[in-house]
Amino acid sequence: MSAFKDGLLNGKVAFVAGGTSGINLGIATRMAELGAKVAVAGRDPEKAQRAAAGIGRGAVGYSTDVRDYAATRAVMEQIVNAWGPMDIVVSGAAGNFLSPAAGLSANGFKTVVDIDLLGTFNVFRGCYDLIQKPGASLIAITAGQAVNPMMMQIHACAAKAGINQVIRVMAMEWGPEGVRVNGISPGPIAGTEGMARLAPNPEVTKALTGRIPLRRFGEISEIAESAVFLCSESAAYITGTILDCEGGSQLGDARSPFERS
Ligand code: COA
Ligand code: NAP
Repeated sequence: MSAFKDGLLNGKVAFVAGGTSGINLGIATRMAELGAKVAVAGRDPEKAQRAAAGIGRGAVGYSTDVRDYAATRAVMEQIVNAWGPMDIVVSGAAGNFLSPAAGLSANGFKTVVDIDLLGTFNVFRGCYDLIQKPGASLIAITAGQAVNPMMMQIHACAAKAGINQVIRVMAMEWGPEGVRVNGISPGPIAGTEGMARLAPNPEVTKALTGRIPLRRFGEISEIAESAVFLCSESAAYITGTILDCEGGSQLGDARSPFERS
């Protein structure tokens, strides 16, 4: 159920980096439904084309690796040349896998940090002179690992913690120009690649669900609604915030002492 009215994003230009599958594709799709002109990008060009076709409404798919500043900047220049300055930029590309620190190579650690953290810097830094000022809204997709350490996630914990500080510093530096910079921290979201990797069997899924205050995984559409809120006029005085959309899962283990055998 959505509280947002049709046409809310009419006339807006939105770019979703990593918007070719999962949560970010859900965000891109919802923004297009509400009237935005939407571009998505990922590494795989065919996947990007399929995503854009699925979104419809004139959406465009580009190929770039967010670790490559020049290539990512070139994609954003193409968007602006076609549609004008961007009103909404979402940085959501990420890589993840379970690995104990002792089994992780330096390149494995670097790979996740480069995609998530350097990628977010590249997207945000690269869009600086390509966005609507005042008025642009930038959103980075972070995760609970940024705040709460999680075993077998040393790379993602470090990367997402860095993203939270990128959000805050850019909110301070770009606020005077009327640019808002926020984050969304999703909880475990059903049907995503991320949860396929972090909860790889039904037993893990059941155990995780039992610890979440709202006792369920979230839906992609619920993250999309949070993104629309953050880039809407309703959030005009919100910047530098990380919006937790996670069913209370970061509060801790929500089983009573009697359930914890
Ligand atoms: N356990 C330990 N190390 C791993 C690993 C795993 N499961 N998967 C990859 N690595 C290591 C590789 O061994 C390599 O290190 P090395 O050179 O020392 O051997 C390093 O990570 C890079 O791997 P590579 O496959 O070259 O990286 P890539 O850039 O092609 O792909 C990944 C990036 C590894 C993150 C890949 O899983 C990916 O593309 N993920 C995108 C989708 C995703 O993760 N979605 C969930 C988002 S939350
Ligand atoms: P996903 O479906 O794997 O989406 C990742 C997207 O990023 C894809 O479009 C992928 O396309 C792209 N991508 C990956 N590496 C890239 C790179 N180097 N350059 C450019 N694009 C790249 O993942 P998801 O599970 O929906 O997660 C989406 C976001 O939500 C991530 O930031 C993740 O950390 C966050 N999150 C997810 C959950 C969850 O429950 N799933 C929970 C908390 C936070 P290509 O492969 O074609 O590049």
